[in-house]
Amino acid sequence: MNRYEGKVVVVTGAASGIGRAVVERVSSEGAAVVALDRSELVHEVAAELAESGGVAVAQVVDVSDGEAVAAAITAHTTELGRIDAVCGAAGILETGTVAEGSLEVWDKTLAVNLRGQLNLLRACLPRMRERGGSIALVSSISAVIGDRDVAAYAASKAALTSLAKQTACEEARHSIRCNAVLPGWIDTPINDAVFDSGEQRRAEVARTVPLGREGSPAEVAALVAYLGSDEAAYITGTTVLIDGGLLLGVAP
Ligand SMILES: NC(=O)c1ccc[n+]([C@@H]2O[C@H](COP(=O)([O-])OP(=O)(O)OC[C@H]3O[C@@H](n4cnc5c(N)ncnc54)[C@H](O)[C@@H]3O)[C@@H](O)[C@H]2O)c1
Repeated sequence: MNRYEGKVVVVTGAASGIGRAVVERVSSEGAAVVALDRSELVHEVAAELAESGGVAVAQVVDVSDGEAVAAAITAHTTELGRIDAVCGAAGILETGTVAEGSLEVWDKTLAVNLRGQLNLLRACLPRMRERGGSIALVSSISAVIGDRDVAAYAASKAALTSLAKQTACEEARHSIRCNAVLPGWIDTPINDAVFDSGEQRRAEVARTVPLGREGSPAEVAALVAYLGSDEAAYITGTTVLIDGGLLLGVAP
């Protein structure tokens, strides 16, 4: 498939996990990529793509810093000329309960997972209005289920699905689509504490998923690449689960 030939895609969280897989997927389909992450590793991602003939510009940026995000988008998209699709995948997961969790974690989580996505939208939307485009914001099943000890994360992701819907309504007249992607258990570094604690814990997780395993970053990237392409031209304002059936609620 070459759905992204001649197109420019902006990806945050591009140094690792889902964001990195999105970069690799859309690049393999012809996109030039603007890869943003707070980690220096984002330069390695861009260099690897360049070695295989891809086009990627990378910049270290903290998405919670609105001015820095705007400056990075302006600089790179002026160079590349357009923005066709955006994937907001940068995110953090820190634990804390509603009653006792630290306010520092609360503020930091909302600053990255929610305001970081707002910063991305504000930086990209004016440019996208020139010819329309598509945005996928990576939320989580935590947006729609109850859980324990992830109060800030879950609240940030629920608010993010709402932000995607507001964006879809406001920007539809500019032919800009916006959807939220809600992954379940995906094998990325954000879950190291769970998956690195041993095969027994991994098996416990798998038992809660009807498909019997965690998902891969590439599987989420395939969904993001579909939503960002013209094949999804009539899909906007949705929240798409990608969770191996977890939300079906089958007893383990
Ligand atoms: N892995 C899962 O099971 C899962 C499930 C649901 C949702 N998600 C969401 O998917 C997204 C991607 O996470 P992942 O699983 O690939 O984890 P990951 O830790 O591999 O990737 C997250 C990336 O975001 C970057 N990042 C974090 N804070 C940033 C900041 N302030 N500015 C710029 N970049 C920042 C990190 O450096 C990292 O490269 C996150 O939003 C996460 O909440 C993941």
